[in-house]
This record gives sequence, C-alpha cells and structure tokens, in this order.
Amino acid sequence: STPLIMDVDTGVDDACALLLAARHPALDLRAVSCVGGNTDVDSVVSNTLTVLDAVGRLDIPVGRGAGRPLLEAPVDARHVHGEDGMGDLDWPQSARTPDSRHSVELMRDVLRDAMSRGERVTIAPTAPMTNIALLLRTYPDVAKGISQIVFMGGAADTGNATASAEFNVFHDPEATAITLAAAAELGIPVTMYGLDVFYDPVVTRQQAEALIAEGGHGSGELAGRLIAFQCDRFERASATIGDAGAVCAVIDPEGVTCSDLPMRVELAGAWSRGRTIVDRRDWSGDHAHDPHGRSESIVRVALDVDGPRYTRLWLDTVRGH
Ligand code: BDR
Ligand code: CA
Repeated sequence: STPLIMDVDTGVDDACALLLAARHPALDLRAVSCVGGNTDVDSVVSNTLTVLDAVGRLDIPVGRGAGRPLLEAPVDARHVHGEDGMGDLDWPQSARTPDSRHSVELMRDVLRDAMSRGERVTIAPTAPMTNIALLLRTYPDVAKGISQIVFMGGAADTGNATASAEFNVFHDPEATAITLAAAAELGIPVTMYGLDVFYDPVVTRQQAEALIAEGGHGSGELAGRLIAFQCDRFERASATIGDAGAVCAVIDPEGVTCSDLPMRVELAGAWSRGRTIVDRRDWSGDHAHDPHGRSESIVRVALDVDGPRYTRLWLDTVRGH
C-alpha cells in the first residue's frame, strides 16, 4: 500500500478526506500534520484526533503545525465549516493529545524513517501549505523520501475565497509558491487537485441519511453527518466530498484527467493575490516563452474528474464502523 502523510485544516471536508485515508486498504497513513486554516490550529488538532478516534486509528500520530500563514494574518472559514470548524456535530471528543513534535519535525521523522527502509511517501495537503513550505526549506534532505505531492488547492479557472483565489492558496500564497519552487528544485512531482474538479464528486442527502442510520458513532455515521451538515448549510440536496477527492486522486489517479502545465502563484495583485496562474496557452509543448526568463513550475493539473467514480470510492470506504 502507498505510504501517505496528510496535511489538513480539519475542516468538514478534511474530515471526509481523513476518513477515506485512514480506512482505505491501498493507503498506509503514517502521520497527519495540522495547520491553521479553516479554523485555528488547536481546533484543527482536536477535530483531527476526533475523526481518527471515530475510526479506531489511535496509532496514527497527529502533529500540531503552523498556527498562521508565513506572511499575513490568518483568516478562517468558520462561516463554511461551523464554529468548531467541523460542522458543530456535538461528536464525542478525543482524549488523545497530539504528538510532542511540531508537525514539521513529525513529517521529517516519518520521511527519514521511510527513507531508511527504501520507501517513499506521498504527501497530500488539503490545507494551506505553510507546513509543507517549512518542511521543504528546513529539511530539504527529506525530498528523497517524498514520491509526490498531491494537493487540494488552487484553480485553473475561478477561485472561491475571492473571484481569483482558492482558499488554501489565498490563505498562504507564499507557502504555495515556496512549495512549488522547492518541489521543482528537489525533483518532487506535484499534482494540483483544485477547484476545477473539487465540486464534482458529490454525495446526496439521501446517501448521507443512509450513512447516519448506521449509528454507533462510527465512520459511516460521522461521514453522513459531515455531508448532511454541508447540505443544510448550503441548502442543497447534495454536497461535495471536497478534500476527499484529492485522496481519491492518490488511490485512483485514473479518475482524474490531468495536464502538465506551467503554473505560478500570484503574490502581488490588487484583486488576484493567491491566484494560481495556470498557463493553458497552446505552445505545442514548448513552454520556454516567458519573456523574462523566470522559472515557472510544471504542475500536473487536474482539469476533469469522473465525479460518480470518486463518490463511489468514498462511499464504499467510509461506510461501516
Ligand atoms: C478548501 O478550503 C477549505 O475550506 C476546504 O477544506 C478545502 O481544503 C477549498 O477551497
Ligand atoms: Ca481543507
């Protein structure tokens, strides 16, 4: 199975992603790193522990990482994810405490341990990439232990936090830019699972109700209540599995159609800060057209997804106890 580290800001849909990552037999979830984003980092840690407890994965270490973006003050998304950042479900809280290491050091140790055994780990950030930027700049030696980064964030088309920018990149644009630059320098392939595909795999309220009926405070009930929360909040008959789609893309890469495209992160811009500028001009494969000669990263950008296929993958994995 694929060794995996998740980096999350749990987050209703991060919770959906964690349920999948912790339960799917093709994945070997070795650590979860937490960052401030949808809510403050301490709430992210406790939400993350709560999800892992619900699926009996007390063995997975959870690290507390950066509480704020590299440059600017944090913004949160409680208006989307609820006051506690995870749907205000009134779910039994975990009694566990996080790992004593900062999550950057936790990831470093997990990666070095994998390297010592000749293994390489996929990193799947579904949150602002503050921790990942810090990891790659502080401990570049661990790059050899990373097989790929598959992140939820950005958009080739429109944003959500602003018309231009997707929330995770908007929250810490410098961190995304640093991560892309470092990955290019260190030879780590990067896939962007952005807003162009994010909203496509959906679960209906009816499917959510069936999961909730499983009860027992297990995986299925939690999964169903997370989806039902989103249906209520947005007054819709279905809700996206969101960040969980990025985990689906790790398990089943053929469910997404990707193109290798040059990309930059807008760090200035009056109204476009945090935009991922994906160059979709047709240069017949020759991307050396930047008149300024400045480097850009080539990112595998998910442009289309088989939504029902990922919905099925998610439902089949999260149902049950
Ligand atoms: C992303 O931002 C967060 O609100 C979600 O958890 C997801 O990672 C979508 O823009
Ligand atoms: Ca998230």
